[in-house]
Amino acid sequence: MSFIGGGLEMSDVAIKIKSLGAYYSQTAAAFHRVSGFGRFPEPEPPYTFPEVQTDDASGALSQSLDSIVSDVGGASVVSPLLLEVIDARLSERSFGSIALPEAYIGSLLWAAYGKRTKGGEVCNRVVPSAGATYPLSVYLLALFVEGVSCGFHRYQPDSNSLVFLPQIIIPSRVNDWFRTTHIDYTKAAAIVFIVGNWQGICPKYGARGYRYLLLEAGHMAQNVCLLATALGVSHVPVGGFVDDAVNTAFDLDTEKEGTVYSVVLGQLSQQRAQK
Ligand SMILES: Cc1cc2nc3c(=O)[nH]c(=O)nc-3n(C[C@H](O)[C@H](O)[C@H](O)COP(=O)(O)O)c2cc1C
Repeated sequence: MSFIGGGLEMSDVAIKIKSLGAYYSQTAAAFHRVSGFGRFPEPEPPYTFPEVQTDDASGALSQSLDSIVSDVGGASVVSPLLLEVIDARLSERSFGSIALPEAYIGSLLWAAYGKRTKGGEVCNRVVPSAGATYPLSVYLLALFVEGVSCGFHRYQPDSNSLVFLPQIIIPSRVNDWFRTTHIDYTKAAAIVFIVGNWQGICPKYGARGYRYLLLEAGHMAQNVCLLATALGVSHVPVGGFVDDAVNTAFDLDTEKEGTVYSVVLGQLSQQRAQK
């Protein structure tokens, strides 16, 4: 029997740590439930959004991409393309009922949570993860994707592939899954749902694990938004979905996991494309 002081045995400590992990996981579940309530302001009709300011002459920090690149020592140090993509990212809420190529979806999901190969070895994911715990999973609702069955799929990072989930019924009105009503879901091509598993991270980081899980979801969504921008795919990250509707459809055990974020994707509407 090994004692570690204060009359505590190693086995007592292990039980305590285990039950603390369960406690923190339950706390995260409770917080997640509570944070699902609250006032949810919608913009007033006709749902116009402020014009995007592209030419801010007064901002002391505004610089051309060329000057940013030369400031840090030239194009070999910072890819101008990456800077251009960051500069061009913009949320779009109307889409063109046009299918997305399968290869685009493959790349977008890889950018979300794919694995990288270094020197022939498969290593970490493309996003950072606190303690490399990777508590997220990715579901895809394919609506108009060439070569991908219409319906729900689960992304498999190991093989960069999709598993079709025919048991999940597509809602007759996709809008019913969202609290944000000013997005044209009917013409979207695909929706990425990010599901967090707090049981996969809270035993390690306590209640703080829930924060880390959300932060990781942000890294993931940003990768999707930036790659979508580079591919010319319209997109908007959406936190305003109906938790119960989505979690129930995915058959999630909400004591352990829940949907935390989504990204709606589609081709540019004709109107926007002509601008
Ligand atoms: C965490 C988060 C949640 C968001 N949820 C919604 C949403 O529910 N509905 C929506 O239309 N946009 C949503 N957005 C997009 C923001 O409205 C958008 O990023 C913001 O208006 C700035 O515009 P921009 O993305 O074009 O720069 C969300 C963005 C973030 C970061």
